[in-house]
Amino acid sequence: MRIFLDTANIEEIKKASELGIISGVTTNPSLIAKEGRNFEEIVREITTLVDGPISAEVISTEAGEMVREAEKLAAIHPNITIKIPMLPEGLKAVRTLREKGIKTNVTLIFSANQALLAALAGATYASFFLGRLDDVGHEGVEEVAAAVQIFAQYGLETEIIAASIRHPLHVTQVARLGVDIATVPYQVLMQMFRHPLTDAGIQKFLADWERVKDK
Ligand code: G3P
Repeated sequence: MRIFLDTANIEEIKKASELGIISGVTTNPSLIAKEGRNFEEIVREITTLVDGPISAEVISTEAGEMVREAEKLAAIHPNITIKIPMLPEGLKAVRTLREKGIKTNVTLIFSANQALLAALAGATYASFFLGRLDDVGHEGVEEVAAAVQIFAQYGLETEIIAASIRHPLHVTQVARLGVDIATVPYQVLMQMFRHPLTDAGIQKFLADWERVKDK
């Protein structure tokens, strides 16, 4: 499983990228708005920091407009992947963009059926928002599991991205399912490192070393 970083914050991307474990970045209009900066400028900067798929989202809801926006964004860098909302117009745009050789990430997917439709339209990625499903009392991981099974059964090429990840347990759960990618906020990435026994173990090693280091 690959890990993408789900943020538009340049400092977070720099720090995570230095760790050498992230293979891409996903953004959305809300993440961009949090930064309060020009969208294209942020996306351009991210392309200089991470050598992997970088998702930038369109804001139109009509296929032709989406394609126009997508072409503009895709011209920024070959690593740009166009995030398209899960709508009938969105899937029309996905088909057109596929024919033009532009990669897409269908976003706001909440059901296995939506993921199936995105795959049939030729999306490169299908982004499942599992945390938001949990928020409304559904078992997000179960819906992702259904999609993973369907994609494997029919050999669908679209890669599943587990998004709206809220805590480290979500990452373990989707990794066990065999999703292709989990896109995680920086804070969750840092939480994944932590274990109290690791901290205690380091402290003990250092304390023991202090006692013998000058011998
Ligand atoms: O990238 C989109 C997705 O991960 C958003 O997550 O936390 O706003 O539900 P969240």
